[in-house]
Amino acid sequence: MTIAFPEGESAGLRSEPSPVESGGSLTHEKRPLLKGAAHPLTASPVDLATRLPEGLTLDAAQRAAAQALDAPHRHGVYLYGPVGRGKTVLAEAYLDALPTRRRRRVHMHDFFRDLQGSLGADRIPLPQALDRLVGRTRVLLFDEFHVDDVADAVYLAATVQHVRERGILLVATSNETPAELLPGVWHERFVPTIDLIERHLDVIPIGEGADYRRTDAGRPAIGFAAGSWIVADPGEQPPPTLLAADGGIEIPVRAQDGDRIVASFDDLCRSPLGTAQYLWLAERATGLRLVDVPDLSGADREALLRFCHLVDVLHDRDVRLDVRAAAPAESMSSAAVPPRALQRTLSRLAMLARGTA
Ligand SMILES: Nc1ncnc2c1ncn2[C@@H]1O[C@H](COP(=O)(O)OP(=O)(O)OP(=O)(O)O)[C@@H](O)[C@H]1O
Ligand SMILES: [Mg+2]
Repeated sequence: MTIAFPEGESAGLRSEPSPVESGGSLTHEKRPLLKGAAHPLTASPVDLATRLPEGLTLDAAQRAAAQALDAPHRHGVYLYGPVGRGKTVLAEAYLDALPTRRRRRVHMHDFFRDLQGSLGADRIPLPQALDRLVGRTRVLLFDEFHVDDVADAVYLAATVQHVRERGILLVATSNETPAELLPGVWHERFVPTIDLIERHLDVIPIGEGADYRRTDAGRPAIGFAAGSWIVADPGEQPPPTLLAADGGIEIPVRAQDGDRIVASFDDLCRSPLGTAQYLWLAERATGLRLVDVPDLSGADREALLRFCHLVDVLHDRDVRLDVRAAAPAESMSSAAVPPRALQRTLSRLAMLARGTA
């Protein structure tokens, strides 16, 4: 298979330390000076703190990251750190505070689905498909910037290059440093994109600290978080019926009660489904009851990967998730090949009420 990563940036632009890496305290009065021109949207400070959810008080590491965000940037920022540290909250507040209405937030899964739709069904070339997606956007928040496979890597590489060329301010959040993206055999092919990210984006770490999903403070009891993880014997389920999703793909489910869906683990995670189908479900359901979930320590790699994607999508779309499983969610940690998204998935599942039946 030939993969075409866009060439790395060759304009010889200087590499400059990010505000955080250059040290020193960052305040609105004393903003760090950039050698290159600041992106116009970041030329003046914005009051990110006023855009935070009501009642949320930043911890010290979050305040440092917030100050680093609110500094001048040439092309954008890459905010990374452990799960549940408030990266999405901070990035969304920042996006909201920037002086433009032409802003767009995308979640990795939505973005790839839309891009693949343009490329596949509409048969548009990649640059035009990207233009269609980012359009007249002046700032793009790319939440959860992860690269799990080589196809996503090609799209991400093209996206980074595209937004850079269009002068779009890029705000990315990730659990990984740029250098950690796409580990494994394809990593070397992604290095030019990593270089591009490191040279053009200010890389901001959000320090160690609480995973707020595991504290009451971070747990709203609505949407996804209103759900539950119940350890129980599997009950009787009706035979599957098929929902006709986009692209002629059929999704097996056990029941549909209005906008609440019941499906088994095998239906959704052991069928040849992907994030596009999970998004399709999430756009039509306010709740998913996932039954017959086995002890995940024995689940195979593919099924676990699908399960992690399913949780990602439901969490991002704030769809309630109620699970009936043979073992606690944490059993996933003892799988033969634990998924790379293990911590991210467990952090999201920690928001669910626990119980046995
Ligand atoms: N300082 C805080 N006090 C209370 N709750 C907080 C605080 N910071 C974040 N939270 C809450 O913690 C939860 C997780 O935050 P967020 O989704 O921004 O984390 P994240 O760093 O993006 O995690 P991930 O890497 O898993 O995507 C949210 O419900 C958020 O409102
Ligand atoms: Mg996040």
